[in-house]
Amino acid sequence: MALNLDLSGLFGDGSDARLTRKSFSDALPRAFAAREAHMANIPKWRTLHERTELQDACRERAVEVKVRGDVDYFVVLGIGGSALGNTAMISALAPVYQEWSPEEGQPRVFVLDNVDPDWLGEFFEKVPMDRTHINVISKSGGTIETSSEFLIAWHHVLAACGGDETAARARFTITTDPVNGHFRGICDDLGFFTLEVPDGVGGRFSVMSPVGMFTAEMAGLDVASIHAGAARVDKKLRECAPEEDPALLYALSHMLYMEQGKPVHVHFAYAHRLRYMADWYKQLWAESLGKRHNLAGETVHLGPTPVKAVGATDQHSQTQLYVEGPDDKVYTMLKLGKFGREVEIPEPFVKSPAFEHLKGRNLSELMEQERQGTEVALLDSGRPVCVIELCKMDAFHLGQYFQFLQIATAYAGGIIGIDPFDQPGVEAGKIAALALMGCKGFEQRAKEIAATFAAREEFKLSC
Ligand code: PA5
Repeated sequence: MALNLDLSGLFGDGSDARLTRKSFSDALPRAFAAREAHMANIPKWRTLHERTELQDACRERAVEVKVRGDVDYFVVLGIGGSALGNTAMISALAPVYQEWSPEEGQPRVFVLDNVDPDWLGEFFEKVPMDRTHINVISKSGGTIETSSEFLIAWHHVLAACGGDETAARARFTITTDPVNGHFRGICDDLGFFTLEVPDGVGGRFSVMSPVGMFTAEMAGLDVASIHAGAARVDKKLRECAPEEDPALLYALSHMLYMEQGKPVHVHFAYAHRLRYMADWYKQLWAESLGKRHNLAGETVHLGPTPVKAVGATDQHSQTQLYVEGPDDKVYTMLKLGKFGREVEIPEPFVKSPAFEHLKGRNLSELMEQERQGTEVALLDSGRPVCVIELCKMDAFHLGQYFQFLQIATAYAGGIIGIDPFDQPGVEAGKIAALALMGCKGFEQRAKEIAATFAAREEFKLSC
């Protein structure tokens, strides 16, 4: 029932570009200060597992939706922190092929986090809206992608309900801020059912709130265990000594490496079910730690570049670069202590050197040997590698893993002296998109953008 962290491969003896244990120990006071500041003001997302009223609301709503017996599809409309945790959780915990062949009594889950007309157009054309429940998730209620999707979904659902607005509304749940934002006003005025994105919980730290947990309830996942996993990490990390805090040591090592010319942080998931966890991690690490200003208001342009890799697949696309290319990366290998099932490699049907060594072996052995093979190749090249082991792929361990990375991210922000909980760069992009779409109040910004494009010297090619 543990999340195990092996940092051994992060450190060298000084003969390569890895940190030494001594240089790491010397930097510990910096990390201790960051942890102390964090503990003095524990963020609200860290205790979402204690908010039983939020969990009850998700469960009750899911029961209400499912009891009607007319929901085969559950669709999340949202983007960024309002979507990635859902995708990560479903791909990690739902039966692998649920998307094609739903489990008895559970709807197929789709997370639509883009506005590509080919994708969305075909989706709404093919998926029967009279068998669908839609969860629109937006904390701000002002994100242009989600607003557009909401309108499109409403149009199709209303049509499927023969123009009956009450019936159409019953096919929606809106997950948004309890007080602020455009969606709040719409829901209050028109009577949409809402779930709460709690105050003080930003998008990328919201997976344990109704943002993730309503989807989990709808998909029939074990929400109590997800929360129990998060609670255990929360408790363990509060109680342990700072020098034994795994999230703190993980954060410190990565921030030190970033400062010493290794800003690329590769999350190498050796479990296909965890491939979208790496996407969730990418947002968490990038959006939280990539900042123009530090807490003192100085311009610093800091931040690591997270990269996703999936073992063994990406060994055949990225490992060449990792082993022999620039030494600017730190690697986190994710492994499972035990896969959910075993697949034996059958007796070879023909005698061949290609098959001989596979006789009597199984796929989890192969996956782990592939991982170790890549680890050793990286270590032989002096590249820093650490390993995170989830004992198995279940709700409890996933909850642990979400919580571990969230806390590590918060610590990392403290260590480098930036605010990990804001995202002014994302807001800038959101505002520009609103201005370009002609949103009222953004006329000045639209003019500035037009001027920026006009001022560029053209350099266009085609072939
Ligand atoms: O982590 C974040 O804050 C962002 O990625 C948001 O989740 C994302 O921009 C979507 O915002 P909203 O939930 O307000 O629509």
